Amino acid sequence: MNQTLFPTPSGTMGPALPRYEGRAKVTGDARYPSDVRLARTAHAYLHTSRIGRGTIEAFDLSAARAVPGVIEILTNETIGGEIRQMPAIYQGGYLADSAQPLGSADVAHWGQPIAMVVAETYEAAREAANRIGVTYRPHAALAADMDAAEASEQALDPISFGVGDFAAAYEAAPVRVDARYSTPAQHQNPMELFATQCAWEGDRLTVHEPSQNLNNIRFGLAEQLGLDAEKIRVVSPYVGGAFGAKGFLTQRTALVALAARRLGRPVKLVATREQGFTVSGYRAETRHHVQLAADRDGRLTALRHEGWELTSRADSVAMGAVSMTARLYACPNIIGRVNAVGADRSTPGFMRAPGEMSYGFAMETALDELAHALAMDPVELRRVNDTPVEPVGGLPYTSRSLMQCFDAAAGAFGWHERTQAPGSMRDGDWLVGWGCASAFYPAQAGNSAARVRLSADGRVHVSSAGHELGQGMYTMMAQVAAEELGVPVDRVTVSLGDTDLPPAVVAGGSSSTASVAPAIMAACDAIRRRLGIEDAPPASVMPAMEASGMGVIEEFAEARAHGQPPESIQGLYRGMALPTGGAHLPSRVQFALGAQFVEIRVHARTHEIRVPRAVGAFAAGRIINPRTAHSQLVGGMIWGIGSALHEHSEIDTRNAGYVNANLADYLLPVNADVVDVQAILVPEEDRLVNRAGVKGVGEIGVVGVAAAISNALFHATGRRLRDLPIRLEHIMST
Ligand code: MOS
Repeated sequence: MNQTLFPTPSGTMGPALPRYEGRAKVTGDARYPSDVRLARTAHAYLHTSRIGRGTIEAFDLSAARAVPGVIEILTNETIGGEIRQMPAIYQGGYLADSAQPLGSADVAHWGQPIAMVVAETYEAAREAANRIGVTYRPHAALAADMDAAEASEQALDPISFGVGDFAAAYEAAPVRVDARYSTPAQHQNPMELFATQCAWEGDRLTVHEPSQNLNNIRFGLAEQLGLDAEKIRVVSPYVGGAFGAKGFLTQRTALVALAARRLGRPVKLVATREQGFTVSGYRAETRHHVQLAADRDGRLTALRHEGWELTSRADSVAMGAVSMTARLYACPNIIGRVNAVGADRSTPGFMRAPGEMSYGFAMETALDELAHALAMDPVELRRVNDTPVEPVGGLPYTSRSLMQCFDAAAGAFGWHERTQAPGSMRDGDWLVGWGCASAFYPAQAGNSAARVRLSADGRVHVSSAGHELGQGMYTMMAQVAAEELGVPVDRVTVSLGDTDLPPAVVAGGSSSTASVAPAIMAACDAIRRRLGIEDAPPASVMPAMEASGMGVIEEFAEARAHGQPPESIQGLYRGMALPTGGAHLPSRVQFALGAQFVEIRVHARTHEIRVPRAVGAFAAGRIINPRTAHSQLVGGMIWGIGSALHEHSEIDTRNAGYVNANLADYLLPVNADVVDVQAILVPEEDRLVNRAGVKGVGEIGVVGVAAAISNALFHATGRRLRDLPIRLEHIMST
């Protein structure tokens, strides 16, 4: 074990155990949903639209049908009425978007699935899909992005709020910042592609699909196909990366299920990397207007943050993280506003820290601009505005360790050696810049259930239909049960990723551990009650088990998350288990917080940008496993580097298609771009947030990195770049 790979546990942290499923993964034993081999499988391939908005006038399927091995071609003309249109999650439904799969001849966006070929082999299906002829009638007016004349803007009432008198305070202030920022469309690009396999046995359907939300697929598909959800099983023991892209049911699943039913044999679809850009949601482009005002000591007197987010025509989606950026610092006069701008694009969705990344970039860069205007150290600016109470509703934070994070990261980074003037830290031909920013993410949880079985020989089995996305779910579940029952962790086995197991929250919103750990704890409580040792320490469980003469005790338990009403527990059994928390609770706010520090180097002649080191420190309540948590945070910080300097889904405004929908042209940080990334775990105890004391670490690592980089770039060059991604050509042209 290399101790430098993860921090030594401290405070209330649990042991840094190795990953439960690590051996299965590195030896290839772990079978992902597309690895499952079913007898007589037929292979599906999507054909996606090549226009942005319009109508299909005619298909020519003759050449496709002539390809040897083709069995079936589904289009809006051949599909029949077997798949119902159902609402998207934004209207209370299950689907990632509200389109009906192959529902009509209308094309709403580039890359929309308009046909699916099924053939004996993948190659035959692909060949036939490529031979499908389509005559389109494109709509004359196309809005590819927010700048298009045809784009439509709407303010969102639920995300519009204020306190105090912003306008008067802003006008009266001696120091002000007024700036606009933007972030581009980005795609999650998980390594594992969007795969679905469906197999029927009589009237029972099994779906093998990588998912962050198994029961969402089960119940959504039941509605679409008019089936009893009890007849559908969804299996996904491993997910090869998701990052929000596998959170909700997409159009492909019902098509594969329908084809498998028609053919009477299993059907397998693996969408291509390019198709992955439009078959699920993505991080939509955003724009921001931030106005800050402060007194000469740096105390904020007025703060206004307005955001615009691109969405589809069909679904009004906005992440609206102004609900957090307006609540991070003490300030008496605040306005927050969010607008959705509809365009002819696929419906956006969730991508790791969906709104926090982009809104955080805007707010945390604006704060750096304010620090510069005040000639104040940016860390000290955060310190004078630190607050135990959020400023909009006056609610207390359950815990807040923002400045502890700043101090820990600043110390490790060596921030005290920074000289304040832009351009003052030049090293030969390299302009050196140091920047920092806050990281934040709502601490959320949803309802979950779990089952725990204790055997007289000391073995424990724990199960819940949670999701292993690579974040460490198996390991966490084993650790919590071992700790509660006082058995060694190597005596614990875990089942997850199967709708036959007790239902769990969506693996989204960094909420899995905060939601499922309390359910496991409740099941262990029930075991202790059965043994009549309710309040005894874990070490007395096994002696009591032996004394009881019982062979096995198995208990099922539910845990309802704080802020969820009693009736919400029913939703758990209908695939409706969504997390809440953050700024959306009536009596308190609960955020995980952190601090990001970055050094960048800009070459004085070529403008090449390098990030030689990044240091983050994070306080997220109890850390169950410092090894997996650390790995999540480092991964998030690397995403942050990508979000600032590399990632950009580039749009061809003529057809609203993505021109770089592949991993050669969609730039991501690689090893040479990521030299030294350090994530510090700041011990934090939060007894309120949930029974496990866990805030979650899945997404906070990405938040604030882009601002720290843009702030460092200003420090290096004196140039303030407010539009992501920041590339060398942008430095040349300013
Ligand atoms: Mo995460 S973007 O909430 O799956």
